[in-house]
Amino acid sequence: MPRLVRVAAASDVPPGTARELMADDQVVALFNVDGEFYALDGVCPHAGGPLGEGTLRGTVVTCPWHGWQFDVKTGENCLNRRMLHKRFPVKVEGPDVFVEFP
Ligand code: FES
Repeated sequence: MPRLVRVAAASDVPPGTARELMADDQVVALFNVDGEFYALDGVCPHAGGPLGEGTLRGTVVTCPWHGWQFDVKTGENCLNRRMLHKRFPVKVEGPDVFVEFP
């Protein structure tokens, strides 16, 4: 049964920024794209880099370790669209951001 876990206050992650956090025993990368929140598995599939500490430009996050890029809306790797990184549904209720875990 899916679990909805509060991960942050919306005000803690301003538009255009990313945040690494732990929730439900997982590293999660939370992104704010113009007020819309998205969440990916925070561990980069290349070599385990922290995607939540990456640079966000538009909907694309760049991993700080070696520069792999992912679309935070779809989880697609920007060089290989068939390589999908794990995403989590996000809900905003009032001032709080929640991530849904399977
Ligand atoms: S660990 Fe992310 S690009 Fe290498």
